[in-house]
Amino acid sequence: MAIREIVLIGNPVLRKKAKKIDRIIPLIKQLIDDMVATMYKAPGIGLAAPQVGVSKRVIVVDVGERLYKLINPKIVSSEGLETGTEGCLSVPGKVGEVERATNVVVKAMNTDGRYIKIEAGGFLAKCFQHEIDHLDGILYVDKATDIRDVFEEMEEELESVMYEDEIIEEESAHRMVKTFHEQDQTKAIFEL
Ligand code: NI
Repeated sequence: MAIREIVLIGNPVLRKKAKKIDRIIPLIKQLIDDMVATMYKAPGIGLAAPQVGVSKRVIVVDVGERLYKLINPKIVSSEGLETGTEGCLSVPGKVGEVERATNVVVKAMNTDGRYIKIEAGGFLAKCFQHEIDHLDGILYVDKATDIRDVFEEMEEELESVMYEDEIIEEESAHRMVKTFHEQDQTKAIFEL
């Protein structure tokens, strides 16, 4: 397994319609293994092949329940609508509010070449929709409102809490937050 480089917004591969996979050759299994390693390393909870520069219809998702490795995934039905916060490993440091279906049924091929159906709700459903959008060249920022800098927001919040409570002086509050940021501990849990 190798860690691959995650491509960022602006790279044309993220805007291409990814190609369907006809046969699961070893190269595809290698791609999937690498995507899983890359997602966990990031860390993220979902990754689509175009995000590692490969325009093929493959996604990996793990929101903490189990790992999904899906080939040619397709949403076959959906219901409900709700708005939630999302981020993306290809759009670092930002989050936004996106309206998605509450529940979806995803049909896909697994790595054994068998067709499977997954009924998903909540955050998993959002994640599937976000990743499948990647396969069609769509980024969450195309659909999102209130796109904002996640670090700025967290920093301001932390600083004001610490300062207003007079726990420490403004100067040291700022320094603390900066260190926190640099150590990357504020990495969004929403990265998909
Ligand atoms: Ni994404």
